[in-house]
Amino acid sequence: MTIKEPKLLTGKVCLVTGATAGIGRITAAALAGQGAQLVVHGRSKAKAEETVQEIKASTGNQQVSYLLADFSDLDQIRGLAKNFQDHYQHLHLLVNNAGGFFNKWTPTPYGVELTFLVNHLAPFLLTNLLLDTLKNSAPTRIINVSSEAHRQDQMDFENLDFKKGYFGIKAYARSKLANILFTYQLARRLEGTGVTVNALHPGHIATDIWKTNFGLIGPALKRIMGLFSLTPEEGAENSIFLAASPTLEGVNGKYFIKNEPAQSSPVSYDEETARRLWDVSADLTSLPEN
Ligand SMILES: NC(=O)c1ccc[n+]([C@@H]2O[C@H](COP(=O)([O-])OP(=O)(O)OC[C@H]3O[C@@H](n4cnc5c(N)ncnc54)[C@H](OP(=O)(O)O)[C@@H]3O)[C@@H](O)[C@H]2O)c1
Repeated sequence: MTIKEPKLLTGKVCLVTGATAGIGRITAAALAGQGAQLVVHGRSKAKAEETVQEIKASTGNQQVSYLLADFSDLDQIRGLAKNFQDHYQHLHLLVNNAGGFFNKWTPTPYGVELTFLVNHLAPFLLTNLLLDTLKNSAPTRIINVSSEAHRQDQMDFENLDFKKGYFGIKAYARSKLANILFTYQLARRLEGTGVTVNALHPGHIATDIWKTNFGLIGPALKRIMGLFSLTPEEGAENSIFLAASPTLEGVNGKYFIKNEPAQSSPVSYDEETARRLWDVSADLTSLPEN
C-alpha cells in the first residue's frame, strides 16, 4: 500500500489573474495540481472557459472555475472583487500576474495611460478590495509579478499619463517599479496580520506579451524572443515556489529572482516614494478610506 503525500494546497482557495495565457496559465495549472480550489481570472469568456476545461482535464482537479474582468476598467475590478466575495468565503493566495506591454500610447479616463492602469492600478485596487478576505483567511499570501525591467525607470508623479515622451518600455518599466513599491508598502502595512506579500521577476519568457502589441512584427518578435528566452513553464517556477513552498511561511516584503531573495533597484526601497504612490493610487482608484 502506498501513502499519498498530502498536496501542498489542498483546502486553499487561490485566485490567479491573467491565468488564460503565458506564465499565469502555467502557474494556475500547477496550483490546481497541488490541490488548490482555483479561480482563474480572464478577460475573455471563451479563453477562460477553455483554460478551466484544460486545467481540469490535465490535473484531474474539478475545483476550478473562472471570473472575468478587463483590467482597463476599474469598475470591472470592483465587480471582480464583489463576484469573488459573493462566491467564496476565503482567499488564501492571490497571484497578481495579469499584465501587458503597450507599444502605442493609450490614454484612459483615470488620468494615467493604459500600462500603468492595467499593470499597477488594477492589481492595487483588486488587492485592497480583497484584503479583508485575505486577512480573515490568514495565514495567506499575495504574489506580485513584477520584472527586472523595473530598473529602467523612476516614478514620475507629474507625468503618470505619459503625455510627454511615451516609450512602451519606459511605461512598462514604471508600472513594474510600481509593483515593487506597492509590494514593500503593503508588506509594511500587513506586518502582524498573517498576510504576506512578495514580488518576483519570472525571467525573460517567450509569451504573447511580446506578440500582442507589436502589430505585424509581433509574431516574428515572439519567435526571436523564443531563441533567447525561457519557456513559460520555466517562467512560472518562481510564482509556484512563492505560492506553495512551506519554507516561505512568514516571509514578507521581499523581491525574488529564481526562487531566491534579490535586491531590487535603489528607488524601490524609498519609503517616501512608496507612501506617495500608495496615496496617489488610492485617490486614482477612489479606494474607500483605508
Ligand atoms: N514574458 C516575460 O518575459 C516577462 C518578464 C517579466 C515579467 N513578466 C510579467 O509576467 C506577467 C505575465 O505575462 P506573460 O509574459 O505571461 O504575458 P501573456 O502571455 O501576454 O499573459 C498575460 C495575461 O494577462 C492578461 N491580460 C492582459 N491584459 C489584460 C487586461 N487588460 N485585462 C485583463 N487581463 C489582461 C492576458 O489575458 P488574455 O489571455 O486575454 O490576453 C493574459 O492572461 C505580466 O505581469 C508581465 O509583466 C513577463
